[in-house]
Amino acid sequence: MKISVTKSNSDKVVTDLLALPLSSGELENGAEEKLAAFGFDRQVLKDFKAEAGEVIVLYGGSGNFSAARVVLLGLGEAKTSEEWRKAAVAFASKAVEMKIEKIAVDCSCIANLAAVSLQSVSSLAAIFVEGCFTGSYRFERLKSGKLDKKKSKEKSKEIAELILRVDSAVFDETEDGVAAGKIVGSCQKMARDLVNLPGNYLQAEDISKAAEESGKKYGYDVTVFHKKEIESLGMGGLLAVNKGSFHPPTFTILDYKPKGKAKSVVALVGKGVTFDSGGISIKPSEGMGEMKSDMSGAATVLGAVEAAARLKLPLRVIGFIPATDNMPGSKAQTPGDVITTYSGITVEVGNTDAEGRLILADALTYATEKYKPDVLIDLATLTGACIVALGYSVAALFSNNDKLSDDIYQSGQLSGEKVWRMPLWDLYDEQIKSDVADVNNTGGRGAGSVTAAKFLEKFIDGHKNWAHIDIAGPAFTPSKSAGKVSGGTGFGVGLLVELLKKWS
Ligand code: BES
Ligand code: MN
Ligand code: ZN
Repeated sequence: MKISVTKSNSDKVVTDLLALPLSSGELENGAEEKLAAFGFDRQVLKDFKAEAGEVIVLYGGSGNFSAARVVLLGLGEAKTSEEWRKAAVAFASKAVEMKIEKIAVDCSCIANLAAVSLQSVSSLAAIFVEGCFTGSYRFERLKSGKLDKKKSKEKSKEIAELILRVDSAVFDETEDGVAAGKIVGSCQKMARDLVNLPGNYLQAEDISKAAEESGKKYGYDVTVFHKKEIESLGMGGLLAVNKGSFHPPTFTILDYKPKGKAKSVVALVGKGVTFDSGGISIKPSEGMGEMKSDMSGAATVLGAVEAAARLKLPLRVIGFIPATDNMPGSKAQTPGDVITTYSGITVEVGNTDAEGRLILADALTYATEKYKPDVLIDLATLTGACIVALGYSVAALFSNNDKLSDDIYQSGQLSGEKVWRMPLWDLYDEQIKSDVADVNNTGGRGAGSVTAAKFLEKFIDGHKNWAHIDIAGPAFTPSKSAGKVSGGTGFGVGLLVELLKKWS
């Protein structure tokens, strides 16, 4: 997507589709003038409520303007950046639906909105650009198109050009925001692509390759441990989960170091289960295909490290990705097995479907022991119980540090990727006691997300600044959800970037 900023009058912007953002307040005052400038009748306002994300396409008008079509774009009350993001997503989505490749938006309101929403102009510009990436995203790589009869059913076109029209006073700031938004938007897109690739297109080795490519392109170090090295390190959790697999596991380390002295060292750990069948404790077949998304944490970590490198943030950001699929078979681990993790802690495998915590255990200990990070954060599609608790839009946050927890919560609000904190009280340890090993990987019926987090906590070696984010719900939109593009969402990339910026 080519993105540019212009100061020329909105009626002079040459584009296929020009958005005129309108707030509900402006419907009473100001909307008429905006419409009149383009020669549209105020009658259209009867059908437009300016709800955030509402879109109406207008044709005709006076003809004295350079856009082929105009849309009214609802901003709601225009008080929050969330409404602004929602509008951008809806606008870009509409453009893709209409197969329009060149779009523009009149951002004359951006300075005002910045003042009201207490955000900088550059943040708002970045949000609009990110929203356009989000709204225009479609995953059609695996469609050949051979069975499509109608031309209208052709693959959607990507948006080729986006123009933001602003007043000259905020031109430079807008340009800065556009540059940042483009980076974050494209990292989110990369994460979504990885999530959407099914198991037969994306195995552990492919995740490592994607990391290596990104590292080469954006100048950070990537180290990949293959099966031999994982064995000699004694990563018993990752190896146990991989036992039933035809494909070898990998452990990938993405290490971005800033030019000067790093303000702090941030470790990000992402669950990379390329497909989760449940193993011998096999899952029911309905919806099992969605478990291609069980590497969403890994995709988010890759997206966030790449974004940190491209934004040249003054932090050292290190990603850790343990990757494998989880398959049944005669070689697979079986319920009741006792394994020894990288930490030396032994685990009774009560359920082979609680595999994420086994591979994360090794990664968390490795990250803490070898890198002594100031902050340790893991992201994982860890429990179905998390979806029961918080649904498909919100992630569960667990942390042993109130300050870190607050920072993550705030970054979630800013990025629109919401998290809600859950407890880590020791009383939950009761549920994961084992008769034969140090700990059990399952905790029975109640509080499934909490017992999973309590399990992970055993492997951070007393780290005082750790957070676990269970993204099982928001990482992937099932195809039955109305009005949403199905598939991977890239959830967490935006949140982590906000968080890293906060610490920069
Ligand atoms: N990957 C799943 C969790 C999941 C479920 C993510 C649905 C997204 C949507 C995880 O590996 C899993 O199977 N967890 C089990 C744990 C249980 C066996 C203790 C679960 O949630 O049922
Ligand atoms: Mn599982
Ligand atoms: Zn899983």
